Amino acid sequence: MSILEEYVARHPRSARLYERALQSFPSGVTHDVRYVTPFPVYVEHARGSRKWDVDGHELVDLVMGHGALFLGHAHPEITRAVTEQAARGTHYGACHEREVEWAEWVRRLVPSAQVVRFTNSGTEATLMALRLARSYTGRHKVIKFDYHFHGWHDAVAGARYSDSDALRSAGVTPGALQDTISVPQGDLQAVERHLQSGQVAAVILEPTGASWGTLPLAPSFLHDLRELTRRHDTVLVFDEVITGFRVSVGGAQGRYGVVPDLTCLAKIVAGGLPGGCVAGRADIMSMMAFRGDSAWDARQRVFHPGTFNANPLSAAAGSTMLSLIADGTYHRHADGLNERLVREMNATLARLEVPGCVYGLASYFHIVLGEECPRPQGGIEWPADSGRQPPRMHPELAMNLKRAMLNHGVDLMGLSGGFVSGVHTEADVDAVLEAFEASIHDLRRDGLL
Ligand SMILES: Cc1ncc(COP(=O)(O)O)c(C=O)c1O
Repeated sequence: MSILEEYVARHPRSARLYERALQSFPSGVTHDVRYVTPFPVYVEHARGSRKWDVDGHELVDLVMGHGALFLGHAHPEITRAVTEQAARGTHYGACHEREVEWAEWVRRLVPSAQVVRFTNSGTEATLMALRLARSYTGRHKVIKFDYHFHGWHDAVAGARYSDSDALRSAGVTPGALQDTISVPQGDLQAVERHLQSGQVAAVILEPTGASWGTLPLAPSFLHDLRELTRRHDTVLVFDEVITGFRVSVGGAQGRYGVVPDLTCLAKIVAGGLPGGCVAGRADIMSMMAFRGDSAWDARQRVFHPGTFNANPLSAAAGSTMLSLIADGTYHRHADGLNERLVREMNATLARLEVPGCVYGLASYFHIVLGEECPRPQGGIEWPADSGRQPPRMHPELAMNLKRAMLNHGVDLMGLSGGFVSGVHTEADVDAVLEAFEASIHDLRRDGLL
Protein backbone atom coordinates (compact mmCIF):
# COMPACT_ATOMS: atom_id res chain seq x y z
CA MET A 1 0.00 0.00 0.00
CA SER A 2 1.20 3.51 -0.75
CA ILE A 3 1.22 6.22 1.93
CA LEU A 4 -1.96 7.64 0.41
CA GLU A 5 -3.74 4.27 0.25
CA GLU A 6 -2.82 3.53 3.84
CA TYR A 7 -4.00 6.98 4.94
CA VAL A 8 -7.39 6.46 3.25
CA ALA A 9 -7.74 2.93 4.63
CA ARG A 10 -6.93 4.00 8.21
CA HIS A 11 -9.36 6.90 8.37
CA PRO A 12 -12.82 5.94 7.07
CA ARG A 13 -14.70 7.99 9.68
CA SER A 14 -12.60 11.06 9.00
CA ALA A 15 -13.33 10.62 5.30
CA ARG A 16 -17.07 10.50 6.00
CA LEU A 17 -16.95 13.57 8.23
CA TYR A 18 -15.06 15.42 5.52
CA GLU A 19 -17.83 14.61 3.05
CA ARG A 20 -20.24 16.32 5.43
CA ALA A 21 -17.87 19.21 6.06
CA LEU A 22 -17.64 19.88 2.34
CA GLN A 23 -21.32 20.76 2.40
CA SER A 24 -20.70 23.45 5.01
CA PHE A 25 -17.21 24.88 4.53
CA PRO A 26 -15.23 25.94 1.48
CA SER A 27 -12.74 23.09 0.96
CA GLY A 28 -14.26 21.51 4.06
CA VAL A 29 -11.95 23.26 6.53
CA THR A 30 -12.09 26.11 9.02
CA HIS A 31 -8.41 27.14 8.88
CA ASP A 32 -6.18 27.05 5.80
CA VAL A 33 -3.43 25.20 7.67
CA ARG A 34 -5.81 22.30 8.37
CA TYR A 35 -6.31 21.63 4.68
CA VAL A 36 -4.86 18.16 4.05
CA THR A 37 -5.64 16.13 0.94
CA PRO A 38 -7.57 13.92 0.30
CA PHE A 39 -9.17 14.81 3.67
CA PRO A 40 -7.96 15.86 7.10
CA VAL A 41 -8.07 13.72 10.23
CA TYR A 42 -10.93 14.51 12.63
CA VAL A 43 -10.10 14.53 16.31
CA GLU A 44 -12.47 13.28 18.96
CA HIS A 45 -10.70 14.12 22.21
CA ALA A 46 -7.29 15.06 23.57
CA ARG A 47 -5.31 14.97 26.79
CA GLY A 48 -1.79 16.05 27.62
CA SER A 49 0.51 15.48 24.65
CA ARG A 50 -1.89 13.09 22.89
CA LYS A 51 -5.07 13.24 20.89
CA TRP A 52 -7.39 10.55 19.56
CA ASP A 53 -8.99 10.66 16.14
CA VAL A 54 -12.51 9.52 15.27
CA ASP A 55 -11.14 6.24 13.90
CA GLY A 56 -9.66 5.43 17.29
CA HIS A 57 -5.99 6.18 16.59
CA GLU A 58 -3.88 7.69 19.35
CA LEU A 59 -1.61 10.45 18.07
CA VAL A 60 1.37 12.22 19.57
CA ASP A 61 0.32 15.80 19.01
CA LEU A 62 2.92 18.26 17.74
CA VAL A 63 0.32 20.80 16.62
CA MET A 64 -0.52 21.72 20.20
CA GLY A 65 -3.34 24.07 19.31
CA HIS A 66 -1.24 25.79 16.61
CA GLY A 67 1.30 26.48 19.34
CA ALA A 68 -1.19 27.72 21.94
CA LEU A 69 -1.08 24.69 24.23
CA PHE A 70 2.25 25.03 25.96
CA LEU A 71 0.91 22.82 28.75
CA GLY A 72 -0.82 20.32 26.49
CA HIS A 73 -4.46 19.44 26.14
CA ALA A 74 -6.90 19.75 29.03
CA HIS A 75 -4.27 20.64 31.61
CA PRO A 76 -5.97 19.89 34.96
CA GLU A 77 -5.35 23.30 36.53
CA ILE A 78 -6.39 25.25 33.44
CA THR A 79 -9.45 23.04 33.01
CA ARG A 80 -10.39 23.64 36.65
CA ALA A 81 -9.95 27.40 36.33
CA VAL A 82 -12.06 27.52 33.16
CA THR A 83 -14.87 25.27 34.44
CA GLU A 84 -15.07 27.16 37.73
CA GLN A 85 -15.22 30.39 35.80
CA ALA A 86 -17.85 29.03 33.38
CA ALA A 87 -20.09 28.24 36.34
CA ARG A 88 -19.72 31.84 37.54
CA GLY A 89 -20.51 33.36 34.16
CA THR A 90 -18.74 33.61 30.82
CA HIS A 91 -19.35 37.25 30.00
CA TYR A 92 -20.27 39.98 32.43
CA GLY A 93 -20.46 42.80 29.94
CA ALA A 94 -18.44 44.53 32.62
CA CYS A 95 -14.95 44.78 34.02
CA HIS A 96 -13.76 41.95 36.27
CA GLU A 97 -10.86 41.03 38.52
CA ARG A 98 -9.64 38.18 36.29
CA GLU A 99 -8.76 40.59 33.45
CA VAL A 100 -6.70 42.71 35.82
CA GLU A 101 -4.86 39.66 37.10
CA TRP A 102 -4.28 38.44 33.52
CA ALA A 103 -2.75 41.78 32.49
CA GLU A 104 -0.56 41.77 35.61
CA TRP A 105 0.88 38.40 34.56
CA VAL A 106 1.65 39.72 31.08
CA ARG A 107 3.32 42.79 32.57
CA ARG A 108 5.35 40.67 34.96
CA LEU A 109 6.67 38.32 32.29
CA VAL A 110 7.07 40.39 29.09
CA PRO A 111 9.86 43.00 29.25
CA SER A 112 8.15 45.56 26.97
CA ALA A 113 4.74 45.29 28.63
CA GLN A 114 4.22 48.50 30.51
CA VAL A 115 0.52 48.51 29.59
CA VAL A 116 -1.71 45.90 27.97
CA ARG A 117 -4.95 45.75 25.95
CA PHE A 118 -6.59 42.40 25.24
CA THR A 119 -7.94 41.29 21.86
CA ASN A 120 -9.51 38.07 20.62
CA SER A 121 -6.71 36.86 18.36
CA GLY A 122 -3.23 37.49 17.04
CA THR A 123 -4.68 39.03 13.90
CA GLU A 124 -6.51 41.58 16.00
CA ALA A 125 -3.33 42.24 17.97
CA THR A 126 -1.22 43.08 14.91
CA LEU A 127 -4.06 45.18 13.51
CA MET A 128 -4.18 47.13 16.77
CA ALA A 129 -0.41 47.54 17.03
CA LEU A 130 -0.13 49.01 13.53
CA ARG A 131 -3.04 51.34 14.14
CA LEU A 132 -1.52 52.53 17.42
CA ALA A 133 1.82 53.12 15.74
CA ARG A 134 0.20 55.13 12.97
CA SER A 135 -1.77 57.28 15.34
CA TYR A 136 1.21 57.81 17.65
CA THR A 137 3.64 58.83 14.92
CA GLY A 138 1.16 60.53 12.58
CA ARG A 139 2.74 58.54 9.74
CA HIS A 140 1.09 56.02 7.42
CA LYS A 141 3.60 53.51 6.14
CA VAL A 142 4.55 50.23 7.79
CA ILE A 143 7.43 47.93 6.98
CA LYS A 144 7.08 44.20 7.22
CA PHE A 145 9.39 41.45 6.01
CA ASP A 146 8.85 38.99 3.17
CA TYR A 147 7.18 35.78 4.33
CA HIS A 148 6.59 37.09 7.87
CA PHE A 149 3.09 36.18 8.92
CA HIS A 150 1.00 38.57 11.01
CA GLY A 151 -2.52 37.23 10.55
CA TRP A 152 -5.06 38.00 7.87
CA HIS A 153 -6.16 41.64 8.11
CA ASP A 154 -5.70 43.76 5.00
CA ALA A 155 -2.47 45.58 5.82
CA VAL A 156 -0.53 42.34 6.24
CA ALA A 157 -2.49 39.58 4.49
CA GLY A 158 -2.04 41.16 1.14
CA ALA A 159 1.50 42.41 1.45
CA ARG A 160 3.66 41.63 -1.50
CA TYR A 161 6.30 38.96 -1.49
CA SER A 162 9.37 40.28 -3.17
CA ASP A 163 10.39 37.16 -5.05
CA SER A 164 7.09 36.40 -6.72
CA ASP A 165 5.44 39.79 -6.46
CA ALA A 166 2.34 37.75 -5.67
CA LEU A 167 -0.36 38.73 -3.26
CA ARG A 168 -0.94 36.36 -0.42
CA SER A 169 -4.68 36.94 -0.42
CA ALA A 170 -7.11 37.93 -3.10
CA GLY A 171 -9.68 40.51 -2.14
CA VAL A 172 -7.22 42.97 -0.66
CA THR A 173 -7.37 46.27 -2.45
CA PRO A 174 -4.28 48.07 -3.74
CA GLY A 175 -5.41 50.98 -1.56
CA ALA A 176 -5.17 48.85 1.57
CA LEU A 177 -1.68 47.80 0.57
CA GLN A 178 -0.24 51.06 -0.58
CA ASP A 179 1.16 51.86 2.84
CA THR A 180 2.61 48.40 3.48
CA ILE A 181 6.19 47.89 2.38
CA SER A 182 7.59 44.36 2.40
CA VAL A 183 11.38 43.99 2.38
CA PRO A 184 13.64 40.95 2.48
CA GLN A 185 14.27 39.63 5.97
CA GLY A 186 17.58 40.77 7.37
CA ASP A 187 18.01 43.61 4.87
CA LEU A 188 18.86 46.46 7.20
CA GLN A 189 19.84 48.79 4.37
CA ALA A 190 16.44 48.40 2.71
CA VAL A 191 14.78 49.21 6.02
CA GLU A 192 17.00 52.25 6.48
CA ARG A 193 16.26 53.55 2.98
CA HIS A 194 12.54 53.48 3.72
CA LEU A 195 12.94 54.96 7.20
CA GLN A 196 14.81 57.90 5.73
CA SER A 197 11.60 58.97 4.01
CA GLY A 198 10.28 59.95 7.45
CA GLN A 199 6.94 58.33 6.59
CA VAL A 200 7.26 54.98 8.33
CA ALA A 201 5.14 54.53 11.44
CA ALA A 202 6.19 50.99 12.33
CA VAL A 203 8.43 48.09 11.55
CA ILE A 204 6.79 44.77 12.41
CA LEU A 205 8.42 41.35 12.40
CA GLU A 206 8.41 37.84 13.74
CA PRO A 207 11.54 38.14 15.89
CA THR A 208 12.87 34.62 15.30
CA GLY A 209 12.27 34.77 11.56
CA ALA A 210 9.53 34.26 9.01
CA SER A 211 6.74 31.75 9.73
CA TRP A 212 7.84 30.90 13.26
CA GLY A 213 11.46 30.58 12.30
CA THR A 214 10.99 28.53 9.13
CA LEU A 215 13.35 31.14 7.69
CA PRO A 216 15.45 31.88 10.77
CA LEU A 217 16.70 35.35 11.56
CA ALA A 218 20.03 36.23 13.16
CA PRO A 219 19.39 37.77 16.60
CA SER A 220 21.92 40.50 15.78
CA PHE A 221 19.35 41.84 13.30
CA LEU A 222 16.99 42.55 16.20
CA HIS A 223 19.62 44.67 17.93
CA ASP A 224 20.35 46.54 14.70
CA LEU A 225 16.67 47.11 14.03
CA ARG A 226 16.13 48.37 17.56
CA GLU A 227 18.87 50.91 17.13
CA LEU A 228 17.72 52.00 13.68
CA THR A 229 14.04 52.38 14.55
CA ARG A 230 14.92 54.34 17.66
CA ARG A 231 16.99 56.73 15.57
CA HIS A 232 14.06 57.31 13.21
CA ASP A 233 11.37 57.50 15.91
CA THR A 234 9.66 54.57 14.29
CA VAL A 235 7.68 52.13 16.41
CA LEU A 236 9.29 48.68 16.59
CA VAL A 237 6.65 45.95 16.85
CA PHE A 238 7.55 42.37 17.74
CA ASP A 239 4.89 39.94 16.65
CA GLU A 240 5.39 37.38 19.41
CA VAL A 241 2.14 35.53 18.77
CA ILE A 242 4.19 32.32 18.49
CA THR A 243 7.43 33.18 20.23
CA GLY A 244 5.78 34.87 23.24
CA PHE A 245 6.08 32.71 26.36
CA ARG A 246 7.71 30.03 24.17
CA VAL A 247 11.27 30.83 23.17
CA SER A 248 11.71 32.01 26.76
CA VAL A 249 9.29 32.94 29.51
CA GLY A 250 9.67 36.52 28.28
CA GLY A 251 9.50 35.56 24.59
CA ALA A 252 12.11 36.51 21.99
CA GLN A 253 12.64 39.87 23.70
CA GLY A 254 13.45 38.05 26.93
CA ARG A 255 15.73 35.61 25.16
CA TYR A 256 17.69 38.19 23.17
CA GLY A 257 17.47 41.24 25.41
CA VAL A 258 15.91 43.51 22.78
CA VAL A 259 12.88 45.43 24.00
CA PRO A 260 10.45 46.50 21.27
CA ASP A 261 8.01 49.39 21.64
CA LEU A 262 4.96 47.19 21.15
CA THR A 263 4.48 43.43 21.39
CA CYS A 264 1.68 41.38 19.85
CA LEU A 265 0.76 38.27 21.79
CA ALA A 266 -1.81 35.49 21.34
CA LYS A 267 -1.85 31.68 21.59
CA ILE A 268 -0.04 30.80 24.86
CA VAL A 269 -1.10 34.08 26.48
CA ALA A 270 -4.72 32.89 26.50
CA GLY A 271 -4.01 29.46 27.94
CA GLY A 272 -5.57 27.54 25.04
CA LEU A 273 -8.70 29.69 24.72
CA PRO A 274 -9.20 32.48 22.18
CA GLY A 275 -7.35 35.65 23.04
CA GLY A 276 -4.47 37.96 22.37
CA CYS A 277 -3.14 41.33 23.36
CA VAL A 278 -0.93 44.24 22.52
CA ALA A 279 1.52 45.11 25.27
CA GLY A 280 3.96 47.94 25.23
CA ARG A 281 5.01 51.47 25.96
CA ALA A 282 2.52 53.40 28.05
CA ASP A 283 2.78 56.54 25.91
CA ILE A 284 1.94 54.65 22.70
CA MET A 285 -0.78 52.58 24.33
CA SER A 286 -2.30 55.77 25.71
CA MET A 287 -3.43 56.57 22.16
CA MET A 288 -6.39 54.38 23.19
CA ALA A 289 -7.06 56.27 26.42
CA PHE A 290 -10.07 58.49 26.99
CA ARG A 291 -9.11 62.03 27.97
CA GLY A 292 -12.50 63.49 28.67
CA ASP A 293 -11.89 65.89 25.81
CA SER A 294 -14.55 65.41 23.16
CA ALA A 295 -12.38 66.27 20.17
CA TRP A 296 -9.70 63.80 21.24
CA ASP A 297 -12.05 61.08 22.42
CA ALA A 298 -14.19 61.11 19.28
CA ARG A 299 -11.63 61.67 16.56
CA GLN A 300 -8.03 61.29 17.62
CA ARG A 301 -8.22 58.38 19.97
CA VAL A 302 -7.68 54.83 18.69
CA PHE A 303 -11.03 53.12 18.87
CA HIS A 304 -11.16 49.64 20.39
CA PRO A 305 -14.37 47.69 20.95
CA GLY A 306 -14.61 43.86 20.76
CA THR A 307 -17.39 41.87 22.45
CA PHE A 308 -15.19 39.11 23.79
CA ASN A 309 -12.10 41.15 24.70
CA ALA A 310 -10.68 39.82 27.98
CA ASN A 311 -13.68 37.56 28.50
CA PRO A 312 -13.61 35.80 31.87
CA LEU A 313 -12.97 32.33 30.42
CA SER A 314 -9.91 33.38 28.42
CA ALA A 315 -8.73 35.48 31.36
CA ALA A 316 -9.02 32.48 33.69
CA ALA A 317 -7.20 30.18 31.27
CA GLY A 318 -4.56 32.77 30.43
CA SER A 319 -3.71 33.77 33.98
CA THR A 320 -3.51 30.15 35.05
CA MET A 321 -1.24 29.29 32.12
CA LEU A 322 1.08 32.22 32.80
CA SER A 323 1.23 31.50 36.53
CA LEU A 324 2.19 27.87 35.84
CA ILE A 325 4.96 28.60 33.34
CA ALA A 326 6.42 31.71 34.99
CA ASP A 327 9.38 30.02 36.69
CA GLY A 328 10.73 28.46 33.47
CA THR A 329 10.62 24.83 34.63
CA TYR A 330 8.31 23.77 31.78
CA HIS A 331 10.48 25.64 29.29
CA ARG A 332 13.59 23.76 30.35
CA HIS A 333 11.71 20.50 29.98
CA ALA A 334 10.19 21.31 26.56
CA ASP A 335 13.45 22.73 25.20
CA GLY A 336 15.39 19.69 26.39
CA LEU A 337 13.01 17.29 24.68
CA ASN A 338 13.03 19.33 21.48
CA GLU A 339 16.80 19.38 21.46
CA ARG A 340 16.91 15.60 21.68
CA LEU A 341 14.23 15.28 19.01
CA VAL A 342 15.99 17.56 16.53
CA ARG A 343 19.41 16.01 17.11
CA GLU A 344 18.10 12.49 16.70
CA MET A 345 16.02 13.30 13.62
CA ASN A 346 19.18 14.70 12.05
CA ALA A 347 21.08 11.58 13.09
CA THR A 348 18.37 9.49 11.41
CA LEU A 349 18.73 11.50 8.20
CA ALA A 350 22.51 11.05 8.29
CA ARG A 351 22.27 7.30 8.99
CA LEU A 352 19.74 6.73 6.22
CA GLU A 353 21.63 9.07 3.87
CA VAL A 354 18.57 11.18 3.20
CA PRO A 355 19.08 14.71 1.90
CA GLY A 356 17.52 17.15 4.32
CA CYS A 357 17.79 18.65 7.76
CA VAL A 358 15.83 19.46 10.87
CA TYR A 359 16.38 22.70 12.75
CA GLY A 360 14.55 24.59 15.43
CA LEU A 361 14.66 26.86 18.41
CA ALA A 362 13.61 26.35 22.02
CA SER A 363 10.57 24.06 21.67
CA TYR A 364 9.72 24.22 17.97
CA PHE A 365 11.28 22.56 14.93
CA HIS A 366 11.07 22.45 11.13
CA ILE A 367 11.85 19.55 8.79
CA VAL A 368 13.24 19.80 5.27
CA LEU A 369 13.47 16.59 3.22
CA GLY A 370 14.67 15.98 -0.31
CA GLU A 371 16.92 19.05 -0.44
CA GLU A 372 20.55 19.39 0.47
CA CYS A 373 20.93 21.54 3.56
CA PRO A 374 23.41 21.85 6.40
CA ARG A 375 22.44 20.08 9.60
CA PRO A 376 22.76 22.18 12.76
CA GLN A 377 26.10 21.70 14.50
CA GLY A 378 26.50 21.94 18.25
CA GLY A 379 22.85 22.80 18.84
CA ILE A 380 19.55 22.72 17.01
CA GLU A 381 19.51 26.14 15.39
CA TRP A 382 19.96 26.91 11.74
CA PRO A 383 23.16 28.93 11.31
CA ALA A 384 21.30 32.19 10.62
CA ASP A 385 24.57 34.13 10.42
CA SER A 386 25.69 31.99 7.47
CA GLY A 387 23.65 34.14 5.10
CA ARG A 388 21.95 30.99 3.73
CA GLN A 389 18.26 30.32 4.12
CA PRO A 390 16.81 26.84 4.46
CA PRO A 391 15.49 25.39 1.20
CA ARG A 392 11.78 24.69 0.82
CA MET A 393 10.48 21.18 0.71
CA HIS A 394 8.56 20.16 -2.40
CA PRO A 395 4.83 20.54 -1.56
CA GLU A 396 3.94 16.98 -2.67
CA LEU A 397 6.71 15.55 -0.50
CA ALA A 398 5.58 17.68 2.46
CA MET A 399 1.95 16.53 2.08
CA ASN A 400 3.12 12.92 2.01
CA LEU A 401 5.30 13.44 5.07
CA LYS A 402 2.23 14.75 6.90
CA ARG A 403 0.15 11.74 5.84
CA ALA A 404 2.92 9.23 6.58
CA MET A 405 3.50 10.67 10.07
CA LEU A 406 -0.25 10.44 10.74
CA ASN A 407 -0.22 6.84 9.52
CA HIS A 408 2.48 6.24 12.14
CA GLY A 409 0.68 8.08 14.94
CA VAL A 410 2.11 11.62 14.89
CA ASP A 411 0.40 14.88 13.94
CA LEU A 412 2.87 17.48 12.69
CA MET A 413 2.11 21.20 12.81
CA GLY A 414 1.24 22.20 9.25
CA LEU A 415 3.00 19.75 6.97
CA SER A 416 6.53 19.73 8.33
CA GLY A 417 6.94 21.36 11.74
CA GLY A 418 6.16 20.82 15.35
CA PHE A 419 5.64 22.31 18.78
CA VAL A 420 6.89 20.42 21.81
CA SER A 421 5.09 21.30 25.03
CA GLY A 422 5.93 21.28 28.69
CA VAL A 423 3.98 18.03 29.09
CA HIS A 424 5.53 15.95 26.32
CA THR A 425 7.66 13.08 27.56
CA GLU A 426 10.73 11.10 26.51
CA ALA A 427 8.29 8.37 25.43
CA ASP A 428 6.64 10.88 23.08
CA VAL A 429 10.02 11.74 21.59
CA ASP A 430 10.75 8.02 21.12
CA ALA A 431 7.40 7.62 19.34
CA VAL A 432 8.04 10.61 17.06
CA LEU A 433 11.50 9.32 16.17
CA GLU A 434 10.12 5.90 15.29
CA ALA A 435 7.37 7.46 13.20
CA PHE A 436 9.90 9.69 11.44
CA GLU A 437 12.13 6.78 10.47
CA ALA A 438 9.16 4.69 9.34
CA SER A 439 7.86 7.64 7.30
CA ILE A 440 11.20 8.05 5.56
CA HIS A 441 11.08 4.39 4.55
CA ASP A 442 7.53 4.87 3.25
CA LEU A 443 8.49 8.00 1.31
CA ARG A 444 11.38 6.10 -0.29
CA ARG A 445 9.20 3.13 -1.10
CA ASP A 446 6.74 5.47 -2.83
CA GLY A 447 9.56 7.01 -4.84
CA LEU A 448 9.09 10.42 -3.26
CA LEU A 449 12.50 10.66 -1.61
C1 LIG B 1 3.36 35.32 14.09
C2 LIG B 1 1.87 35.31 14.00
N1 LIG B 1 1.21 36.47 14.02
C3 LIG B 1 -0.13 36.51 13.97
C4 LIG B 1 -0.87 35.36 13.88
C5 LIG B 1 -2.37 35.43 13.80
O1 LIG B 1 -2.90 35.00 14.99
P1 LIG B 1 -4.40 34.44 15.02
O2 LIG B 1 -4.41 33.16 14.28
O3 LIG B 1 -4.68 34.28 16.49
O4 LIG B 1 -5.26 35.49 14.40
C6 LIG B 1 -0.23 34.13 13.86
C7 LIG B 1 -1.00 32.88 13.78
O5 LIG B 1 -0.49 31.79 13.66
C8 LIG B 1 1.18 34.10 13.91
O6 LIG B 1 1.85 32.95 13.85
